[in-house]
Amino acid sequence: MNYLPENNSRYKHVEYWDDRYRAEETYDWFGSFCKFRYLLENHIKKEDCILVLGCGNSSMSGDMYSAGYRSITNIDYSSVCIHAMSARHKDCPGMTWHEMDMQELSFPDASFDVIIEKGTLDAITVEEKSPWNLSSQTAATIHKALTEVSRCLKPGGRLVSITFASPFIRKRLYTHTDYSWSIKTYSYDGGFEYYMYVMTKGEKLSSEDAALEKQQTERNETPPDIVTLPEDKTADDFLSRIDL
Ligand SMILES: C[S@@+](CC[C@H](N)C(=O)[O-])C[C@H]1O[C@@H](n2cnc3c(N)ncnc32)[C@H](O)[C@@H]1O
Repeated sequence: MNYLPENNSRYKHVEYWDDRYRAEETYDWFGSFCKFRYLLENHIKKEDCILVLGCGNSSMSGDMYSAGYRSITNIDYSSVCIHAMSARHKDCPGMTWHEMDMQELSFPDASFDVIIEKGTLDAITVEEKSPWNLSSQTAATIHKALTEVSRCLKPGGRLVSITFASPFIRKRLYTHTDYSWSIKTYSYDGGFEYYMYVMTKGEKLSSEDAALEKQQTERNETPPDIVTLPEDKTADDFLSRIDL
């Protein structure tokens, strides 16, 4: 069955995800846990309190539970997803499922050791014509979500972000002194080359990342022509990379 939307903007709408999850049982964006487990294990302990943002119907949380991670809170703004996933994992004490928008996390400050997002920020940014020049609405959504993530991380806690977006594009979203974290970048082979960013709360940005933040604040960047693609090319490019 084909779950591709007729238009990339649909990825930003909860109705798209609700419809998709009514029909689709499971799908792992950017590969399953076994593809990046060796990287993740360096940044997460079995006893850590973990939050998964935009869990979808991915097998990742279940696979992590089987691997010995016991405290896994999952959120998604699709009620259909949360209903199906909580029923599927009803025999996993310690795993919880909540219908929630990542822009408004209903958890106290400093509640989690690790927060994981896989493809959730991509779903928000995918419609953008230029990754160098996000629309003000998308930029505000991302900033709100990352501010919430930073608030909910314990000191020394990590945000793990798994995406197809290369550092050239993605680091711009994370280089903000306000989030109070450092950034490390890894990549893995999940069929294509995918990336894992690890942001550690309480550490400083590297001088290179601080310079990137300064550069972004100081000037209005003009994207190179090559990244301003027509709508159908953007869709083809996105889909050929991630939704196979
Ligand atoms: C590309 S899918 C990734 C699903 C899953 N994380 C995976 O790796 O396969 C994006 C998911 O993010 C969810 N999502 C998008 N925006 C959200 C938001 N603002 N708050 C919570 N979940 C959101 C969607 O419902 C969808 O399940």
